[in-house]
Amino acid sequence: MLQRLSQLRQEAEHALQAVQDADALERFRVTYLGSKGKLKGAMTWLKEADPSQRRDLGQGLNQLKTELQQAFEAKSGEHKSRHPAQGPRLDVTEPGLPPRLGRVHVITQVMDEMVEVFGRMGFDVAEGPELEDEHHNFHALNIPPEHPARDPLDNFYIDGEHLLRTQTSTVQIRVMESTPPPVRIVALGRVYRPDTHDATHSSMFHQIEGLYVDRKVSMVDLKTTLLQFAHAMFGPEAEVRIRPSYFPFTEPSAEMDIRMTVRGRTEWVELGGCGMVDPAVFENVGYDPEQWSGFAFGLGIERVAMRRFGIPDIRWLYENDVRFLGQF
Ligand code: DAH
Repeated sequence: MLQRLSQLRQEAEHALQAVQDADALERFRVTYLGSKGKLKGAMTWLKEADPSQRRDLGQGLNQLKTELQQAFEAKSGEHKSRHPAQGPRLDVTEPGLPPRLGRVHVITQVMDEMVEVFGRMGFDVAEGPELEDEHHNFHALNIPPEHPARDPLDNFYIDGEHLLRTQTSTVQIRVMESTPPPVRIVALGRVYRPDTHDATHSSMFHQIEGLYVDRKVSMVDLKTTLLQFAHAMFGPEAEVRIRPSYFPFTEPSAEMDIRMTVRGRTEWVELGGCGMVDPAVFENVGYDPEQWSGFAFGLGIERVAMRRFGIPDIRWLYENDVRFLGQF
């Protein structure tokens, strides 16, 4: 019996020495140390053994079990330190996942470009609040109380005197009230009107306003400035046309059209209003109309963006669909 024990020891030691990989090591464990393994099987020898040998045999078997257990653990520790790449592998040289980048909204892109173009012509950027009072939205702009533009149904009134501004012309007044002439500014931002939404109307849209006040400013300066703007935005082919019109805060007043070629199509596009600042407006802000003259203009930014990029429906600009906005 004791000889069988030493045979088993030898066999197990050889088997463990021959182990090369994790699979073989596991097979060794199952064969020798497992619950149905050879060591467990050897415990039955005790019953068969001569009673005088039982003690030595029992001790020997226990000792063998401890030895094999330790040898197995040593081997598996060795194995792990030589082959650490078990479990999920990490390849640090693999390119990372690119973060999703946002981009500037198409309206903001066009506004930035306009600021740049007018900036080169010496215009500063001015700002005013979107929540306005009647003084800046109407009265100081020479729009009297009985004027149809003041109809509550055509405005978002907040209370009896305050409303969401319907035009960026309000900023003309704010700038002139706080700055002595000369002034040369553009103001860009949101305006609000209770229009029914369709492909060309929205109750919120954007305007750019221009105001130039100096001595002896004329209609020629206005048209030249608009032409420079048209060339910068739409190329050297673009033309400007001004048609007589009426606004309470300019005299004379005009509508401005730009002839532009977009995607091979040439057409006249109405962009907004303009004119020479009405002397009554100068008086409202404390400028002397005998000394100072000026021009002003206001145009819709969506119009420009839609022409430029061939966008047929204004509502698409506000839906925040990144599949649409990501194209520009
Ligand atoms: N504020 C006008 C509008 O929203 C546009 C406009 C017309 C602005 C003539 C001007 C101007 O500065 O001179 O319809």
